[in-house]
Amino acid sequence: MSETGAPHHDTPRDPGEDSWRAAAAARKAADRSRVKESIVILDFGSQYSLLIARRVRECGVYCELLPHDAPLEKVAELNPKGFILSGGPAGVYEEGAPMAPAYVFESELPVLGICYGMQLMAHQLGGKVDPSHQREYGHAVLEIDEPCTLFDGLPSSLAVWMSHGDRISEAPPGFRTLGHSVNSPHAVISDGRTRFGIQFHPEVVHTPQGTEVLRNFLFNVCRCEGGWTAHSILELAIEDVRKQIGDGKAICALSGGVDSAVAAAVTYAAIGDRLTCVFVNNGVMRQGEPKQVQETFRKHLGIKLHYVDASDRFLDQLAGVTDPETKRKRIGETFIRVFEETAAEFGHIDVMVQGTTYPDVIESGHTASKGSAAKVIKSHHNVGGLPEDMVLSVVEPLRYLFKDEVREVGREVGLPDEMVDRQPFPGPGLAIRIIGEVTPEKVATLQEADAIVMHEIEAAGMYNDLWQSFAVLTDTRTVGVQGDYRTYGYAVALRAVTANDAMTADWARLPYDLLARISSRIVNEVRDVNRVVYDITSKPPGTIEWE
Ligand code: XMP
Repeated sequence: MSETGAPHHDTPRDPGEDSWRAAAAARKAADRSRVKESIVILDFGSQYSLLIARRVRECGVYCELLPHDAPLEKVAELNPKGFILSGGPAGVYEEGAPMAPAYVFESELPVLGICYGMQLMAHQLGGKVDPSHQREYGHAVLEIDEPCTLFDGLPSSLAVWMSHGDRISEAPPGFRTLGHSVNSPHAVISDGRTRFGIQFHPEVVHTPQGTEVLRNFLFNVCRCEGGWTAHSILELAIEDVRKQIGDGKAICALSGGVDSAVAAAVTYAAIGDRLTCVFVNNGVMRQGEPKQVQETFRKHLGIKLHYVDASDRFLDQLAGVTDPETKRKRIGETFIRVFEETAAEFGHIDVMVQGTTYPDVIESGHTASKGSAAKVIKSHHNVGGLPEDMVLSVVEPLRYLFKDEVREVGREVGLPDEMVDRQPFPGPGLAIRIIGEVTPEKVATLQEADAIVMHEIEAAGMYNDLWQSFAVLTDTRTVGVQGDYRTYGYAVALRAVTANDAMTADWARLPYDLLARISSRIVNEVRDVNRVVYDITSKPPGTIEWE
């Protein structure tokens, strides 16, 4: 190992890469950094990678999740105070196994390797990793054998969550083993200064004191200042938008949801009247929504709002389509076309503002690098489904924010609670809540059922406790009996979930009486519906939407 701790294994280098210091100096001179400090999380494909980012942000430190082979330039722009190497499905000796880039160790910045991240740090720095004969999966007890900064203030015995096959059999030169579990003799390793490897997952709830471990890394090891608050998030977002739009003019699609409202408000704060908001009725919105959105936005945002009713055009595009991804794509494309035509009426417009949030970006596989295990889950229309020949460029002020951060920013920028606390509503709207073909009649049926759900949930005072609550119109027809008549109507499914963000969710334990009221009202008041079922699937393995 070199003096700087540079690896002597086959670590990939960026072609033409100078040294870390040279790049950092160049960056400083150019002062291009968006953030004053950050933690860079390199993603090796673990299903928990995004959770690490959530936890770090919860500690008040900005971080970004980047592909494991992110170029130095991209990393340096973030002013990192340290690296976290995520877990991942590979084994370090597998052919093509992803490695940490050279700059991670050359930078001399603190490094926390988690699970696979720990193993590859050991491997790249000269230690040994053995395929374990015994997989360790689930709860385990970590015994801290030697006190260290990472476990400051924590007991010497910790409940942790493990999920690994391979394990370290020999710590790299200069490293010591500081903790063990029954199946991992080297469950915590460190160079005694700023590099740590931990075999367990501190980011999951099953490691109850995991956030403390991360906090120790951020503040005691990386010496982060913290202070990533709604105010600083807003300032950064406004600055970013100003930089991206320059002297240009922007147009923003308001959907009625929180994300587009906050994106518009941030943009308005950044560029004022050069922003024009447009509200497109796509024909698959909730009952009364177009009217409500127009009223709320004109009143609260005080910006000129252009209303376009394109329902027929969207419904034409959806005719005969049953595949969920095709529905998303058609809606996404039609949106863009309508915007372009509207923008043309306003004279020259340069930019379209969208309310894409961080989980949308990650779920669309955008941090995934070649060969990474992260996969496209659904092509959210506001990320993956954009037509390639789009004329307007896109600005996404919330691209790096989690939903709760979006809400805080919304409040900070002055939006009223009833708008900021609105449950999320997907861009493709009721189209992905009508299973099978979307017809105007089915939209009307679902709107009625959905309005009952919303009304009853609000009346029960539960609206703010739920992440989302809505009705789904299935394509299953069932036999019923009403009065003296046999009926053959549709089954409506209720979906109500609790969540902190949309990555995981649990079905809400709604009171039976509330379920009974909703069910009885739907079958009595909505034509063509004679049965109501309640969806009791959590995410994973289910998704929140049915399509
Ligand atoms: P799933 O169904 O993937 O949903 O668990 C996670 C969150 O994303 C919303 N969602 C969408 N939002 N366009 C959107 O703007 C989409 O195509 C889309 N699909 C799902 C969903 O409502 C939930 O909040």
